[in-house]
Amino acid sequence: MSGICKVMNIVGARPNFMKIAPLMQVMQAEPSICPILVHTGQHYDHEMSELFFTHLGIPAPDIDLEVGSGSHAQQTAQIMQRFEPVLLKHKPDLVLVVGDVNSTIACALTASKLHIKVAHVEAGLRSFDRRMPEEINRLLTDAISDYLFITEESAIDNLSREGIPARKIHFVGNVMIDTLLKNTKKAESSDIIGRLGFMNQDYALLTLHRPANVDNRETLERIFSALRRIGVRIPIIFPVHPRTKKQIESFGLTCYLSRPPYDLTGSGGIYTTPPLGYLDFLKLMSNAEFVLTDSGGMQEEATVLGAPCITLRENTERPVTVSSGTNILVGTDEELIVAEGLKVLDGKGKQGSIPKLWDGLAAQRIVDIIVSLYVKTNELG
Ligand code: UD1
Repeated sequence: MSGICKVMNIVGARPNFMKIAPLMQVMQAEPSICPILVHTGQHYDHEMSELFFTHLGIPAPDIDLEVGSGSHAQQTAQIMQRFEPVLLKHKPDLVLVVGDVNSTIACALTASKLHIKVAHVEAGLRSFDRRMPEEINRLLTDAISDYLFITEESAIDNLSREGIPARKIHFVGNVMIDTLLKNTKKAESSDIIGRLGFMNQDYALLTLHRPANVDNRETLERIFSALRRIGVRIPIIFPVHPRTKKQIESFGLTCYLSRPPYDLTGSGGIYTTPPLGYLDFLKLMSNAEFVLTDSGGMQEEATVLGAPCITLRENTERPVTVSSGTNILVGTDEELIVAEGLKVLDGKGKQGSIPKLWDGLAAQRIVDIIVSLYVKTNELG
């Protein structure tokens, strides 16, 4: 097939931006691909969206669906409704979705129903916990995708168990790690540590936003209670996700937290900041003694940075971060969280190695495969 392969790339929520950045960059340099960028608008705050386009050099979206927040059904349906006419107008050869957010399944499903080929980047991850909205999004997206690009070998077993033929599966590495490796040096010049007043001060870094952790008052209070005990030994920096902020306020749990300007002369604690841009956050993560999180991506990033990662979840869809990396799952039991935190502080944090193919070249591998499907095998288009 000659001509240009039109690839429509989808982003919606914060973790999508780090994944699409290297793909857009490689696609823009590839003469046989015309990349189009669609932002669903799932995340819309300056700190949750625009800042990432600026810091990561992502071109402005060609199309913005501006869906905003809503229940899962509302958000997914709105994206589908607004995305369908875009597909009918632009007629892409391929729709590429990343990760496991509502935008991922909504756009994959819309494209698939119009018989447009779908590529899923970060396919095959499974937590085996169907109460997680992301698990449903992952299962369904993989079931209807034509090309499944995977980050770790556990995905091969998961997908073949679900009947996905091996020819659809491509082990390419991790595009989020492409972005991490590309930006570690740049992030060094961020002045965030000084700006927060943490110069020459050890600290741990915390993020928390999973509905299972932050939508239940008792669970959230138990986590804060554990973190307050760790905070006595080492201050904890906590950039707060908007949904978490809303829940902390509605549950009346602000008493556990310190807001800026901080008083670091006291007995430590949990110090909040608004959500941070990519480079500031990467600087904080690179210099942290350890991280505490319920995010999927941070388990992977901490593994590559060699920072011990205490994951406040019972399961992970990214098992390689536990088998090879620095990750340990502690769930939300107060004593377990404290015990693990103190272990790290006593110098017994988990060491790890970098998983296979997490080498900064995943986006190039994906684009090479797309080109060969389009140009050489006529499979696309
Ligand atoms: C979404 C993803 C989750 C991902 C996370 C990263 C799904 C099902 N979940 O969760 O996998 O880890 O993004 O952040 O897609 N809000 C704002 N401003 C924004 C965006 C959200 O205030 O820019 C608030 C709104 O009150 C909204 C709530 O956060 O209702 C939740 O946003 P939503 O996109 O539904 O899910 P996240 O919790 O962000």
